[in-house]
Amino acid sequence: MEFLAPAKINLSLRVLGRRADGFHELESLMVPVSIADTLEITRRECGGIEFTCDDATLPTGGDNLVVRAARLFGEASGIEPHVRIALTKRIPHGAGLGGGSSDAATTLLALDQLFATRLSREALVTLAAQLGSDVPFFIYQSAAMIRGRGERVEPVAFPHALPLLLIKPPFGVPTPWAYSRWAASREIPDVPYAAQRFPWGELVNDLERPVFEKFIFLADLKTWLLAQPEVAGALMSGSGATVFVVLRAKDTAPALRQRVTQEFGENLWVCGCETVGVLGR
Ligand code: C5P
Repeated sequence: MEFLAPAKINLSLRVLGRRADGFHELESLMVPVSIADTLEITRRECGGIEFTCDDATLPTGGDNLVVRAARLFGEASGIEPHVRIALTKRIPHGAGLGGGSSDAATTLLALDQLFATRLSREALVTLAAQLGSDVPFFIYQSAAMIRGRGERVEPVAFPHALPLLLIKPPFGVPTPWAYSRWAASREIPDVPYAAQRFPWGELVNDLERPVFEKFIFLADLKTWLLAQPEVAGALMSGSGATVFVVLRAKDTAPALRQRVTQEFGENLWVCGCETVGVLGR
């Protein structure tokens, strides 16, 4: 069976402080978007978990979040999952789009369905939180306010299909590094960090401050994007390195894509998509 693992963006991400356990206390509005990895999962009689991925740069052994999720499902349910899992990546990694976290959450949801274990949502969220801070969000398959280190998820209505352009340079940003630099970081003069307000909410990301200090390209990209006529708003997603644009109109995406490429070169990943309030409906 085929399962979709969508990407997310953070429309807002406020860092409230560093906690004693080293994680950071967050408040973030996260919204799924209409690009997804796919997981093809087949049950078999024996052989345990066999995992393959079309992206050779990802580990396919026990380190992979999909394999870890499948093992955790086995431990929690008492069922040894004999499955073949083939992952097709469309969401880049190191991107702030939650690709790996979504793959892991989708694995938990898919195995729960395939083995008819009917784990409660709370049980799935508890497992998800062991795999990473962003994984619980993807269990809900809905726009949500997330709090704590990410494990407290409150689904919210977000009935807006905002037209987006996602733009990612060829480098990634390591999430632990971005958080570790948050407290000591400073704003770069003339770079716009302030919240951008809209009828549907605001765009603001406290991790731009540490990330832009080192990855100045991202600050330049955001500043340039905000000056383009097609752009209603622009923001880095999560800990980067994706900067997304909320377009004034969906049909302007090709023109902006072309100008981004002219200005910054061919080696950017650029992807048009839209926000999705609730998945699968
Ligand atoms: O939980 P996850 O593995 O996704 O987090 C990666 C790293 O990002 C953590 O080890 C931590 O350094 C940092 N982090 C944080 N506060 C959060 C989420 C992540 O400091 N709320």
